[in-house]
Amino acid sequence: MNEIQILVDEALKEIDSAKDSNTLNNIRVKYLGKKGLITSLMKKLKDLPQEERPKFGAMVNEAKDTVTQKINEKLKELSEKEKKQKYEKLAVDISLPGARRDIGHLHILTQIQRELEDIFISMGFEVVEGPEVEDTWHNFDALNTPDWHPARDVQDSFYFTDKILLRTHTSPVQIRTMLQRKPPLAIISPGRVFRRDYDSTHLPMFTQMEVLFVDKNVTIKHLKYTLEEMAKRIFGEGSKVRLRPSFFPFTEPSYEVDVLFGDTWLEILGAGMVDPNVFKNVGYDPNEWSGFAFGLGLERIAMVKFGIKDIRDFIRNDIKFLENY
Ligand code: PHE
Repeated sequence: MNEIQILVDEALKEIDSAKDSNTLNNIRVKYLGKKGLITSLMKKLKDLPQEERPKFGAMVNEAKDTVTQKINEKLKELSEKEKKQKYEKLAVDISLPGARRDIGHLHILTQIQRELEDIFISMGFEVVEGPEVEDTWHNFDALNTPDWHPARDVQDSFYFTDKILLRTHTSPVQIRTMLQRKPPLAIISPGRVFRRDYDSTHLPMFTQMEVLFVDKNVTIKHLKYTLEEMAKRIFGEGSKVRLRPSFFPFTEPSYEVDVLFGDTWLEILGAGMVDPNVFKNVGYDPNEWSGFAFGLGLERIAMVKFGIKDIRDFIRNDIKFLENY
């Protein structure tokens, strides 16, 4: 009988310290379950002398009642607490800041392209486009670049067949436009071009913008003014432009154009006066019409403007890089 009291005391203590309804349920099983400590006491009944049995039985029953009642009280208390906690968790705190969604922004090359388009549109140029898959006539022959010219080497280009390739520059758009229109004209043509190069300053796919101006009595002065105006607007008022003699089959004379950046001259484009042979190839009379053309690399412009060292950064899709611009 003493044992009953001890068991009940233990049970009550455990119930008291239970922290959640799960624990409480385990306590119930431990004492009152089929094989529970209190339930099992009844089995001892048959070992007791006849006259003690009723009293013992009554005591076990009382013990059961006491523990059951205590468990039910505690259960009520705990489940109310748990319910309250659950609803507190679910409640909306309208003072919390909302979850921000990062909407991103235009790629740096797209930004540069649009900036250049705006500059040239404001000077009266029109944006035109050409195909990325070209034939050798538009990409080379019509541009006065004969069969033997090193620019046509299959090592440097992506050919589909002998006569079809990924364009190596945007200059074929000059040809396509002149074949479709009558002079005068002022066009720009941004787009992707392809060459078999890959290192920190060359990509197999990069972006150029072709500029072509055709009118009567066009001279190098017009070319230089346009280049200086462009440089000022992209790189700032104080920027300087330098023309170095060079060679392209489709311009005569030809130049490499550098901009002064800090204290170094950086090459950003190729330029020149449209070669009379090119005019002949598209049916323009070279005695009547003259013009200038240049082709700039958009990656180069961005690298100069923002001090980017590795051209491969443009296509790495590294958010940390892209977020800077
Ligand atoms: N198409 C030449 C190039 O890729 C650039 C250029 C364009 C030069 C127009 C002169 C005139 O590299």
